[in-house]
Formats: sequence, C-alpha cells, structure tokens
Amino acid sequence: MTNQRVFSGIQPSGDPHLGNYLGAIQNYVHYQDGNDAVYCIVDLHAVTTQRDPEALRTDTLRLAQVLIASGLDPENCILFAQSHVPQHAQLGWLMQATTSFGELNRMTQFKDKGDRTEFVSSALFSYPALQAADILLYDTNIVPVGDDQRQHLELSRDVAQRFNSRYGDTFVIPEHVIPPVAARVMDLQRPEDKMSKTAEADNGLVMMLEDPKSIEKKFKRAVTDSEDEVRFDPEHKAGVSNLLSILSAVTGETPTDLAERYTQYGRLKVDTAEAVIERLRPIQERFAELSSDPGETARVLSAGAVKAREIAEDVYSRARSNMGFLPV
Ligand code: AMP
Ligand code: TRP
Repeated sequence: MTNQRVFSGIQPSGDPHLGNYLGAIQNYVHYQDGNDAVYCIVDLHAVTTQRDPEALRTDTLRLAQVLIASGLDPENCILFAQSHVPQHAQLGWLMQATTSFGELNRMTQFKDKGDRTEFVSSALFSYPALQAADILLYDTNIVPVGDDQRQHLELSRDVAQRFNSRYGDTFVIPEHVIPPVAARVMDLQRPEDKMSKTAEADNGLVMMLEDPKSIEKKFKRAVTDSEDEVRFDPEHKAGVSNLLSILSAVTGETPTDLAERYTQYGRLKVDTAEAVIERLRPIQERFAELSSDPGETARVLSAGAVKAREIAEDVYSRARSNMGFLPV
C-alpha cells in the first residue's frame, strides 16, 4: 500500500546516538518517500525528567538539525516540535482518562527510568498516554521505532481500541515497524544492555556527531568474548553479534552472511568502525553546515508545526466531540 500516514517521535535529550540512528532515524528517512510522513521532536516528553531550560532549547534545535542532516527533507515530510502543537497535550489528557493505572504500572521503561531518577514526576508515569496521543492525533498507520518501544506501541493500540469501543469509531489503529537488524543496538562495553544515553560508561556509547577517531577507538575496545569464532548468536555471543548487527544495518548484508566472512574479532571491529564512520561522515558534514544557521532550522520547525496543527486540529475535534464535550 502506498501513501500511508507515518508518524514517529524522538526525544531531545542530548544528541542522538548510533542506536537511535540505526533503530529509528534510518527508517524515518526510508518511510518519508511515498508516504505522508510526520516526525515530531517530543519536547513535552523530554521534561518528564527535570531539564535545564537552556539545554532543552539547544537540544531541540540540534536534534532537528541532526534529523535533517540524516536525510529528512522538510519538503517531503512534516518535521515539528511537539510543544508547538497544543493538541498533543490536550489529547494527552483524554488518553490519560482512557488508560488505566494498571496498564501504566506495567510499562518496563517507567520502571527503568523511575528507578534511576530521584524525583519521579507523575508525567514520567503517564508518559505512554501522551505517546498514544502523539500517534493517534495523525490518523497514523505506521510507526517506525526501535525495539524498546514495542510495549508503548501495544498500549497505544489498546487505548485506541478502547476509545473507539466506548465513544464510537474515532482513531485509526496504528502498527509499529521495527528494522530487521539493529532494532536494539547494544552498549559496546556492556553488550547485554541496550545502547543508551544514560549508560554508565561513556566508552560503550557512540554518538552520531562523535569524532571519527573516538568512534574508532570505541569499536576497537568493544567487549567481545574469550572464544575466537565469529558467529551471529545474540544470546551467547552478545558483543560479537552486536558488531555484526551494526555492520549489517550499515551495509545491508545479513549478519549471518557477514559472520562467514570474518575469522578475527579485530578485523570485524575495524571494519564495523570504518563503515559507521563513513555512514556518519556526510551527516556530520551536513550538520556542521546547518548549525551555522539556527534561524533557518527554527523556521523549518515553525512551518512544520503549522502543517501538523492542521491535521491534529481535525482529529482532536473528532475525539472531543465523540467524547461528549460541548462545541466551543
Ligand atoms: P529516544 O531517544 O528514547 O526518544 O528514542 C528514539 C528512537 O530511537 C526510538 O524509536 C527508540 O526505539 C530508538 N532507540 C533508542 N535506543 C535504541 C537502541 N539502543 N537501539 C535501537 N533503537 C533505539
Ligand atoms: N517514547 C519514545 C522514546 O522514548 C518517544 C516517543 C514519544 C514516540 N512519542 C512517540 C515514539 C510517538 C513513537 C511515536 O523513544
């Protein structure tokens, strides 16, 4: 089917890393062609943990620049900041009223994040209801995400179905798409944990805007195992399989095919580093150009918000009317 509505969201909480790129951003770029794609920088989600206001401003603009540098074309998709479209917060409230405490309490991401923060905001807990609102506001068919968002997407579907059965047909039921490889890029030092900005050691985390020399060093030091067989086996050989997945996501060859070509861990590390560096190089160059004109990026986001609002207003008014609110 062509011309589906595609929607995804990404948090402006520091610069994005290689996991964000291979698990999500690469697919955002892929899905903008031949579809109606809408991509949202979810700044409202970012404040579920306390953020320095200046850092939030900087991170939001930089993330927009990284997304454009990665290939999102504002002529070909809608790119905007969540807080610029008030219907997200408004529908978010209706979604909170449609989501149960028990459902939210089962979300593993809340458990992880809640355990790591001292001040656990109520917004961190209800975050998946806002995420459901984000998606449902655009009559979304497809949501490209990394593997860690599966549970949130299932909840979004459940909430949409519940709303539809309580108040009549209102929302399109969304499906998520996860890339066949690298949907869960692992930490290079702790390959049993997913790569994340909150990693304990910086050495396991590769940032999209990182200096090539530093990327090379991190891959060379990547944790593998004490065997000497290159085999794709994520359960027993997490480190080696992670390298194969990363190389696969960049080259398009399957991890098992790649494994057959390597006999040494050292060579695999060097080649993976090189492939990643070469993939990121044009993105970093384009980012450098874009960052010299932040005003232009701000204009792109404002224009995106105007287009997003047009769609969101429509769907939100359908939802509020079906729920029984008086017309304004
Ligand atoms: P976030 O930065 O948490 O907003 O994540 C943005 C997107 O990146 C989401 O679709 C995540 O599923 C995806 N993502 C985050 N970490 C990883 C990872 N380690 N591997 C693959 N995808 C990831
Ligand atoms: N929860 C997502 C994450 O942590 C970000 C997000 C917010 C999102 N709203 C969304 C992803 C809507 C997809 C669709 O990565």
